[in-house]
Amino acid sequence: MRKGILSKYKDHLPVSPNTPALSLCEGDTPLIPLENLGEELGIELYAKFDGLNPTGSFKDRGMVMAVAKAIEEGARSIICASTGNTSASAAAYAARAGIPCFVLLPAGNVAMGKLAQAVAYGAKIIAISDNFDVALDMARQGSERLGMAIVNSVNPYRLLGQRSASWEICEELGDRPDWLILPVGNAGNISAYREGFDYYAGLGRCSGLPKMIGVQASGAAPLALEREFPNPETIATAIRIGRPVNGEKAKSAVKDSGGSFMAVEDREILAAQSLLASKEGVFAEPASCAGLAGLLKLKNAGKLPQSIKVVTVLTGNGLKDPNVLLSSIPPIEPVPGEWSSLEELFRR
Ligand code: F0G
Repeated sequence: MRKGILSKYKDHLPVSPNTPALSLCEGDTPLIPLENLGEELGIELYAKFDGLNPTGSFKDRGMVMAVAKAIEEGARSIICASTGNTSASAAAYAARAGIPCFVLLPAGNVAMGKLAQAVAYGAKIIAISDNFDVALDMARQGSERLGMAIVNSVNPYRLLGQRSASWEICEELGDRPDWLILPVGNAGNISAYREGFDYYAGLGRCSGLPKMIGVQASGAAPLALEREFPNPETIATAIRIGRPVNGEKAKSAVKDSGGSFMAVEDREILAAQSLLASKEGVFAEPASCAGLAGLLKLKNAGKLPQSIKVVTVLTGNGLKDPNVLLSSIPPIEPVPGEWSSLEELFRR
């Protein structure tokens, strides 16, 4: 039975007898072999589908740890800024723990499903008419001035919990993969993977770091394109971030693993999303598909070695953000429910 991160990995996390046993049974997400796409790319390809966590994203792994420790340390409320998934996760664990949760969202740039989650879980929602980076500045101020625990990835417990994804991958594969390729926004997740692989290597459970490749959307790519993005823009709203707070950690993860950052266009992200769904039956949100988009781009450039073992991290569930996909296709016009009108459609 799934028990959740705090119970399953209690020996590897800062869990004490005073830590509340918070859980939504997060973690233990599937590592799905992507055989069709792997064959096309000439590699052994797996997707770590973290969109199957309780609130539909990888954030739950770190949030359960951060909220449990906040309560243990006496916090009475939590606060975060978010492009959507962090707020959904924070709101859910706050609801579970019975404490208030304030979320600061960049107005108009949060996917519908994520906003609905925050509403449903009862978060106190504040829309900021500015981007995520400004919202995060405000959340930090709120935390400092009002004593609320901040649960963005500036909270060290978040990354400690998020390491669990790398441990699960090592447990399933028997070692680290050759490459790990994943989307990068605020750069917490790639840093957590690095720390997780390092930690397991120290225990002799894997042979060090995989080559880590962090993929950003070209309109929000401060790490990949090494310039400032004061007005980040991308359809992958989850990673619409111009000033990643964990940028330095992520740079060293990439450097020490012999990896790189790269940027992909929005249309490449959308193409990867529909390829993943139509060839493999896996529906992930646009930002999540940046990793696959990066792999396809490297393949086209002749830069993808053959026969290597690659894990791409699908960070969020496709159901969170259906509008991006639906607005990219022509409307599906209804026809009368009569055989004469249907027959012709079946023959197409
Ligand atoms: N993928 C998804 C689906 C995300 O929601 C995020 C970040 C990332 C990738 C990037 O991860 O920030 O650790 O590099 N979402 C944050 C949020 C910023 O507020 O939900 P990162």
